[in-house]
Amino acid sequence: MQLFLDTASIADVRAAARYGVISGVTTNPSLLAKEGGVSYRERVQEIASVIDGPISAECVSRKADDLVLEARELASWHPNVVVKIPIDEEGLEAIHRCSSEGIRINTTLIFSVNQALLAALAGATFVSPFVGRLDDVGEDGMEMVRQCVAVFESYGLSARVLAASLRHPLHVTAAALAGAHIATIPPTLLPQMMKHPLTDVGIQRFLDDARKAGIL
Ligand code: G3P
Repeated sequence: MQLFLDTASIADVRAAARYGVISGVTTNPSLLAKEGGVSYRERVQEIASVIDGPISAECVSRKADDLVLEARELASWHPNVVVKIPIDEEGLEAIHRCSSEGIRINTTLIFSVNQALLAALAGATFVSPFVGRLDDVGEDGMEMVRQCVAVFESYGLSARVLAASLRHPLHVTAAALAGAHIATIPPTLLPQMMKHPLTDVGIQRFLDDARKAGIL
């Protein structure tokens, strides 16, 4: 499973890039709004100069014709841009039209296997189930990820399942076990994934013993 970073913060992207574990970045209007009026285009281009992988930028148009125009504009920002389009009737048409002309699409706001199947059939490159938001309303978000992976594998669909709206380290482990091709994680999850109290205790014990052994 690959890891993407779910952020529009260039500082967070730079900080995470040094570990070599981040293969792409996902952004959305909510993440951009936290950045205090920065130009979306410039921020995506900055991110693309740090991470050499898919960078998702999201459309905000609501009609298929407008979505296609907006998607073309976003895709022109950088060769690594993947255009995010939410699934609905207009979105699905735009996903099909954009995919047909070679624009890579990440279908966002997926909350059912049927939505994921439609997005994959329409030509989306990535399909993003929102795990945490399904958990929020009492459904099993990770079970949906598992079912999407199973359906795509059964029918040889090439779309990648990108587990999104992940909130804590167990979500990442569960996404990997569910067979998600990618998990996009908020920057706060990265240090949480690295940490274990027994690792800290173990390091301290080795240091103490190294002193006793005279190698420190
Ligand atoms: O990747 C989607 C993510 O940004 C949404 O997360 O926590 O708002 O459901 P959340």
